[in-house]
Amino acid sequence: MEQRPGLAQRRWIAAHPAPPYDAGMRTTHRLLLGDARQLNGVETASVQLIVTSPPYPMVQMWDEVFRALSPASGEALDAGQGMACFEAQHQALDAVWAECARVLADGGFLCVNIGDATRSLNDQFCLYPNHARVLTAAMRLGLTPLPDILWRKPNNSPNKFMGSGTLPAGAYVTYEHEYILILRKGGKRLFSKEEQARRAASAYFWEERNQWFSDLWTDLLGADQRLVDPEARARSAAYPLELPYRLILMYSIEGDVVLDPFLGTGTTSLAALATGRSSVGVDREPSLMALARDRLLSARPWAASRAAARLTHHHDWLAQRVAAGKPPGHVAESLGVGVMTRQERALRLTTPTTIWAEGEQVVAPSTSRLCRQALAPRMRPRSADSRRRRSTGLAK
Ligand SMILES: C[S@@+](CC[C@H](N)C(=O)[O-])C[C@H]1O[C@@H](n2cnc3c(N)ncnc32)[C@H](O)[C@@H]1O
Repeated sequence: MEQRPGLAQRRWIAAHPAPPYDAGMRTTHRLLLGDARQLNGVETASVQLIVTSPPYPMVQMWDEVFRALSPASGEALDAGQGMACFEAQHQALDAVWAECARVLADGGFLCVNIGDATRSLNDQFCLYPNHARVLTAAMRLGLTPLPDILWRKPNNSPNKFMGSGTLPAGAYVTYEHEYILILRKGGKRLFSKEEQARRAASAYFWEERNQWFSDLWTDLLGADQRLVDPEARARSAAYPLELPYRLILMYSIEGDVVLDPFLGTGTTSLAALATGRSSVGVDREPSLMALARDRLLSARPWAASRAAARLTHHHDWLAQRVAAGKPPGHVAESLGVGVMTRQERALRLTTPTTIWAEGEQVVAPSTSRLCRQALAPRMRPRSADSRRRRSTGLAK
């Protein structure tokens, strides 16, 4: 992606200027070891978006973590009192949601990925509705619930069917989904004049809107859960990078600050870095700090290829529209590609240019230059590729 551009490419790049603030975009990423119930290092109203996934109450892998956060939850579990344990574990999380409400700026969003739990205690099989309990807690804090997303996570295990097999009536529905809860602090976000320009540049493609704003996500596979560090826990419980990547593009603008109070392996911060947002991540597990930091420092190839994939996907989608006799009515100036709506005209794709550690934080300037540079070779005259594109109205 970083070859020196030739003359034709340089001409093309000059003809498709970057927004004025492009060169100065610098994002910072803080990784804080601590307890999310007290986000001391995060100022009130300083965060525009929170994307997170807590330890799930009543899921065995988190029993010991909850025992440490809430001794009462451990006592209830030992006594086989499922609902009392469920409530005690959620009370530990309630303190984190209160901190989230504090640090969110007005109009900011809280996105929580959470699954319900199924568990047998004292021979009693039961569903523990984590998503409903988190939603209730967040609403009590004054956050406004918005339509949520059901993330369908196929379970390929042959043992996924639970209960009495083919005999009625003791079998249970196979549980293959999680929730992405979406809440807002206060009313619609208001954008200053300077923010309006950043907002316009942060537009997503029309067809991305159509896919991402569906209430059912079926195309995200679970992330690889293996952790190689012997100091770390057995499984990462990480979500796939695409999950925060989409939510960040959907609910924040370039230059915003994104927080994950349950950082884990740093997936949210990585997605923030790749999309030109700053981030703060908090986790109580020391072994994960170095892992998250290493992931951030080596994020460039992924960030570049994901941005390029967005563009390729857009080209393919556009070619189909044009072939169907529905050409785009507008052009995204910095990319030189056709787009469907006026709102996409200032859309640009940014990637980090370099990434380095500076004291406790990771720093990453980001620019649309690399994406525009990658796009330029597509414009070479007389190649079959360029003829096809010109005939489909994609290239200028
Ligand atoms: C479900 S995992 C998050 C995984 C993360 N989304 C990722 O992609 O790697 C939950 C994380 O919360 C952390 N955690 C649990 N209780 C915490 C607390 N009170 N404060 C901060 N972190 C906590 C755990 O150590 C764990 O890494």
